[in-house]
Amino acid sequence: MSKRTIVKLPGDGIGRTVLDQAIRVLDKAGFQADYVEGDIGWEFWRMEGNPLPDRTIKLLQEHKTALFGAITSKPKDEAMEELDPSLRDKGYIYSSPIVGLRQHFNLDICIRPCKTYKGNPLNFIRRGVGDKIEEPLVDVVIFRQNTEGLYGGVEWSDPPEQVYNALLSHPKFRQNFGTVPKNEISVSTRIFTKKATERILRAAFNHARKYGFNSVTVCEKPNVIRETSGMMYKMARELQKNEFQDIELWNTNIDAQMMWLTKNPENYGVIVAGNMFGDIVSDGFAGLIGGLGFACSANIGDDVAVFEPTHGSAPKYAGYRIPIVNPIAMIESACLMLDHLDEQDLSKKIRKAVARVIEDGEVRTYDMMKLSGQADVVEKGAASTIEMTDAIIKNL
Ligand code: NAI
Ligand code: MG
Repeated sequence: MSKRTIVKLPGDGIGRTVLDQAIRVLDKAGFQADYVEGDIGWEFWRMEGNPLPDRTIKLLQEHKTALFGAITSKPKDEAMEELDPSLRDKGYIYSSPIVGLRQHFNLDICIRPCKTYKGNPLNFIRRGVGDKIEEPLVDVVIFRQNTEGLYGGVEWSDPPEQVYNALLSHPKFRQNFGTVPKNEISVSTRIFTKKATERILRAAFNHARKYGFNSVTVCEKPNVIRETSGMMYKMARELQKNEFQDIELWNTNIDAQMMWLTKNPENYGVIVAGNMFGDIVSDGFAGLIGGLGFACSANIGDDVAVFEPTHGSAPKYAGYRIPIVNPIAMIESACLMLDHLDEQDLSKKIRKAVARVIEDGEVRTYDMMKLSGQADVVEKGAASTIEMTDAIIKNL
């Protein structure tokens, strides 16, 4: 195995805390890599007016693979107040660097697996026949289109004249909004392209085939959002018919899916959705397997891939003398990186160790003990971030 170079992007708050622990686990598992650190996050916004400096983009261009912790984002006005005074009124505008990374490198395929850990006290349970408590096994992988749709950023308040006139040419717009003054209208577009839609669908079907899932569910709303959701579902049907007849294609609406996942989550395998619905449904499933401490994700483009926990920088936890947050989401994200790099033996080894620690139940971070995240949770018996990582390393 040749030695790789991985870009580490700690970012803000607990981002660095969990990233350092994931790298300890990777090292101990035997992953041969050098790490180069890339600057990203709030500090760089404040000091340079850019939370994603060009030198960081260059690092990723060169090395292709990154592990990312988390960043802090704040509303427009607050961002401006915190900008170094010498940089104010120079046209700098804050925008989220992780969204920037996804767009710059066209990381259009987001993968978010949610799989039950045996013995996790945070697992979803339900009442079954005869009032018996059941703990269904969730094993779902969500494929979220990562660059388009409602999060594509094409939006206006008080839209410019040409846009407004174009909207007026639509009969539904004239009928429903035609009498509303232009300056009282905000528009956020939901643009899907065939190319990106096909890429996310194909990635989902290929994953189902490779990992033995028997179904792919398109989770959209084609009966109402006819053009975008409709296109995705139609393309999924064609793809399934022409290339993936061994995989069943299911179709659910996002609203119904949010209900079904709390009734029978074990029925689902691979789920594919546009940007916003993928975001929503993946948080829904993450809740069933333990929440933010366990939710990992991959952002994959043709050339570059970035792996990150779903959680943010949790700033209030960042200052604790003993870090208490759960490192598992970050460690699982590192496993997704290993899968991507074809190091499945290593990812398997790490996942097994994580599973053993959770099943043993001796070492639990505060979230697994259902404590609120105060600085004194360690005195109450919760494992610190480091102790959880130590336990995982011991089980490798
Ligand atoms: P958050 O995910 O940072 O924290 C929400 C709550 O989840 C925390 O208060 C904590 O109770 C829990 N939590 C998060 N990570 C955990 C872990 N590893 N173990 C145990 N518990 C954990 O979301 P919040 O508070 O909404 O946002 C904080 C900052 O993070 C904001 O500036 C936001 O913009 C940013 N953010 C960044 C993301 C990213 O970097 N991809 C994603 C989400 C939010
Ligand atoms: Mg989210």
